[in-house]
Amino acid sequence: MNWPNARLCDLLNIEHPIVQAPMAGASSPEMAIAAANAGAMGSLGCALQTPDQFIADASAARAGTNRALNYNFFVHTPPVDDPAKTAAAIERLGPWYDMLGLGEPVEPHETHPTFDQAMCDVLLEHAPNVVSFHFGLPDASLVAQIKDKGCTILSSATSALEAEWLEQNGADAIIAQGYEAGGHNGWFLPRNGADVAGTMALVPRIVDAVNVPVIAAGGIADGRGIAAALMLGAAGVQIGTAFLATPECRSHDVHKDAVLRATGDDTMHSIAFSGRAARTITNDYARGMANVAEWPDFPLMNAATAPIRAATAKDGTGAAFALWAGQAVGLARAETTAEVVERLVGETQTILKR
Ligand SMILES: Cc1cc2nc3c(=O)[nH]c(=O)nc-3n(C[C@H](O)[C@H](O)[C@H](O)COP(=O)(O)O)c2cc1C
Repeated sequence: MNWPNARLCDLLNIEHPIVQAPMAGASSPEMAIAAANAGAMGSLGCALQTPDQFIADASAARAGTNRALNYNFFVHTPPVDDPAKTAAAIERLGPWYDMLGLGEPVEPHETHPTFDQAMCDVLLEHAPNVVSFHFGLPDASLVAQIKDKGCTILSSATSALEAEWLEQNGADAIIAQGYEAGGHNGWFLPRNGADVAGTMALVPRIVDAVNVPVIAAGGIADGRGIAAALMLGAAGVQIGTAFLATPECRSHDVHKDAVLRATGDDTMHSIAFSGRAARTITNDYARGMANVAEWPDFPLMNAATAPIRAATAKDGTGAAFALWAGQAVGLARAETTAEVVERLVGETQTILKR
């Protein structure tokens, strides 16, 4: 198939310049297999996994496709315990724990370390084709080990400065992640209070700033968005939200139902789930905590909010569930992963031929 820019397909060894986004807790081996076999980049979100869970998923994905696969990890700055922030968080979570009958709030603590040598060793035993990172890049020695194995490295940038930094430090392509994107915003260099740019403004700035291919992400959920991203100079797109209502999505039904009901006027950034800004469909918890500016460092809060997230998934309200989704959520449909990829390709090709 003809694409205006073959750079990403050539680099990642894929047919269509579409990356099914790695989504910790939502992507699955079945999703990655279906996306890869449909000609896109199939990805696994491995950030919240133990090495054993990673091995199970990577083995399952590899058994289902001989196409390229992408494994994704978080490289956040290790958190610092702050007793005052911990006490304040516990006090704020108390009423939620009480309402749900969950007893005393769990103290914020680290459940998943940032990508390190131990995980790198396990990763490299599983012959990844592509490795992507969120929140920067790991230590230079880990980047070198991954490159030595012939893997391609991707990472997200939310500014031209971050894109330049990633290129200089070993990224082979840059994911330009705009404000519209679902899930965690991947910023990692100081922003001096500035807003995160939207995809439309961010992509051309990053295309001008770096020489490596640029992958547009955030608010893209149909062929119109993909065609627009290509016109802005992107070599491809990374899409998450459009895959959330698929049967292959591993998230809870409460999340999938919310995605199908959402209009797109109902998402917000919230730092109250994990300690870092992530775009969610607005719910009682995110709305109620919107004015709280300080939480324990990412990802300590994940442990403290896990019980209320699980309880409100189980009770079917989703009132405190992390309903990660981007601003284009209103375009998501109940389709299989393969159908999503086929529709995205077909819609984009129709527009490009006009
Ligand atoms: C449910 C969900 C989980 C996500 N988890 C991750 C993740 O684990 N790693 C990552 O790099 N990006 C993650 N993202 C962000 C995506 O990689 C991507 O930037 C985003 O989905 C693009 O915007 P869109 O949702 O509007 O398509 C997640 C996004 C969603 C919606």
